[in-house]
Amino acid sequence: MAKRPRIAVVGSANIDLTTFTNQFPKPGETIFGQKFDLGFGGKGANQAVAARLCGAEVFMVARVGSDLFGPATIENFRKQGIDPTHVKQVEGLSSGVAPIFVEPNGQNRILVVKGANDALKPADVDAAAEILKSADCIVLQFEIPVATVYYTIEFARKHGIRCILNPAPAQPVDLGALKDLDYFVPNETEAETITGSPVKNVEDAKKCAENLVAGGIRRVIITLGANGSLLSSRDGGEHVPPFVVNAIDSTGAGDAFIGSFAVFLGEGVPEKEAVRRANLYAGLSTTGVGTQKSFYDRARFDAEWAKRS
Ligand code: RIB
Repeated sequence: MAKRPRIAVVGSANIDLTTFTNQFPKPGETIFGQKFDLGFGGKGANQAVAARLCGAEVFMVARVGSDLFGPATIENFRKQGIDPTHVKQVEGLSSGVAPIFVEPNGQNRILVVKGANDALKPADVDAAAEILKSADCIVLQFEIPVATVYYTIEFARKHGIRCILNPAPAQPVDLGALKDLDYFVPNETEAETITGSPVKNVEDAKKCAENLVAGGIRRVIITLGANGSLLSSRDGGEHVPPFVVNAIDSTGAGDAFIGSFAVFLGEGVPEKEAVRRANLYAGLSTTGVGTQKSFYDRARFDAEWAKRS
């Protein structure tokens, strides 16, 4: 039987307010949307839920607001079987929220108001040090202060823990602070924003990833949506093709990729195979609406994998 990985997510938790719409209002205009969905989200929380559904033991280090979303978010972690000991409410701040707009082809646009996520500080990482030291892998994103991300990368290096950063949403980065990462996993837009070089196709992604590796990052995976992903290291770059799915909402697919990839790697699945599996896990998540609620559990995933691999 595969080893059960222990995964820590130091990251964000949001409430997603998703509107499905055929068009966007012009300034001063009011129009009707087609459908609305309220759900638990946030890149960190989504990655934690994906990892848990794939079978890992998961614990979360996060901050939520002193509003009605805060306790509900903590309760959601509990219900999902994620340890929320280090998820605390911050007085006087709102929870993170994300108004999301999804077009008929499944493409999404997301606005994030960070709220309490911005209050997650290096001292909170220290407060969670004991539990973090017991992890096989720490997963990070950019919806918390960048200083906390850099601090946690350093913590992971010091304790020999695998560390994965999903630089989403994209921000200017200090590449030097990322050299101790095991995996840097942007999507094409984030890779483009961070490096300044266009990522419009697989070839562009390959060049961009090569530049990041030349800049000192050990392993880069650029997720390419319906085009699969690009894996790159000093040993070279490789395109890992997608699986065909009927996508209706791509929101959270990147998070599904990261959470599941961390689990497959932790189980000892070889890297390229872990990327292939994560491609399928992410693809399947786009066949349902929302983020966490569109993620497959391990039994459903394994059944699909058995059919398609
Ligand atoms: O990646 C999708 C997530 O981005 C949403 O859940 C939203 O909260 C934003 O963080």
